[in-house]
Amino acid sequence: ESASKGKYRHYMLKEIYEQPDVIRNTLQGRIGKDQILEQAFGTEAKAILDKTKAVQIVACGTSYHSGMVAQYWIEGIAGIPCRVEVASEFRYRKFVVQEDTLLVTISQSGETADSLAALRLAKTLGYASTMTICNVAQSSLVRESDLALMTEAGPEIGVASTKAFTTQLVALMLLTVALGRRRGLNKESEAEIVQALHGLPTLLEETLTLDKPIHKMSEAFAEKHNALFLGRGAQWPIAMEGALKLKEISYIHAESYAAGELKHGPLALVDAEMPIVAVAPNDELLEKLKSNLEEVQARGGELFVFADKASGFSSGEGVHVISVPHVADVIAPIIYTIPLQLLSYHVAVLKGTDVDQPRNLAKSVTVE
Ligand code: G6P
Repeated sequence: ESASKGKYRHYMLKEIYEQPDVIRNTLQGRIGKDQILEQAFGTEAKAILDKTKAVQIVACGTSYHSGMVAQYWIEGIAGIPCRVEVASEFRYRKFVVQEDTLLVTISQSGETADSLAALRLAKTLGYASTMTICNVAQSSLVRESDLALMTEAGPEIGVASTKAFTTQLVALMLLTVALGRRRGLNKESEAEIVQALHGLPTLLEETLTLDKPIHKMSEAFAEKHNALFLGRGAQWPIAMEGALKLKEISYIHAESYAAGELKHGPLALVDAEMPIVAVAPNDELLEKLKSNLEEVQARGGELFVFADKASGFSSGEGVHVISVPHVADVIAPIIYTIPLQLLSYHVAVLKGTDVDQPRNLAKSVTVE
């Protein structure tokens, strides 16, 4: 067992470090110099994408968070209505099926009971087509969906999902561009996205070098009982995923909020005992995020900010800033996932928990 962990102490850390390679593999054969290679999505893809007028995403856990990022992308870049819901809710409520809607399940294992039940239900409800974004080729979700866009993350052993999540985001960006092409996303914009994707593995490698300062930062969390994660826009689901990672493996209660919601409740919780983690890459929302963070500081909260080099954040009294490489907006959610994974990993190691097999959790939840 330890042999396959290679030089790493835990599978989770190994899987975090595999991300540049598995993302390269997920992009392999699917992007050309300036455009996505849609043929690689499968022979059925063209007809299905041509008729798609809306998208409904269904998933659980970490995979649900990648779906939430995709909602920002599919509506914001492709211009198609997109909804996203956790499978356990979707399968038990009444809802309206819009015409020509593509149902997309997202799953590492392809066997999650709620996601599979949601797919089976959707087939009886008049969805135009079904697609899965999945990491296991022989899985039930792949077998039972019209279309499968595989993530090439390789086997993921750590219960807390890492590389499956970022490869899902890559696959979802490819889907976004494929849908966008049909809605006026022009060649120049497609080329910009594709170029950003080409640069992604190297930027991920660069981001992984933040491991040491993040390790140091993790000491501030080990004795804490609560933490708040903040982001805005497509970074909000990244903050949610960061909070989930910390909960899963360090057993610290962590919550995530869209930063603009702070004043509507969570600000009441802020004091010196509540570390606040913020992801701050987005130029467009940066100023707004900054003023949210000033409110936190004014109430004595200690801030841990992952910020774009050019964002003008600097460390000081009660503020710890880690500079993240400057990246294009479209790939920022993928990049900012990395420091949050590393943070939860190091906090868990400090706390001495079973990082790869956290208590009460299973890698694949195949029963309801
Ligand atoms: C379990 C795992 C999570 C995972 C979720 C959904 O709860 O512990 O890491 O995100 O299931 O799994 P899936 O295989 O459908 O992505």
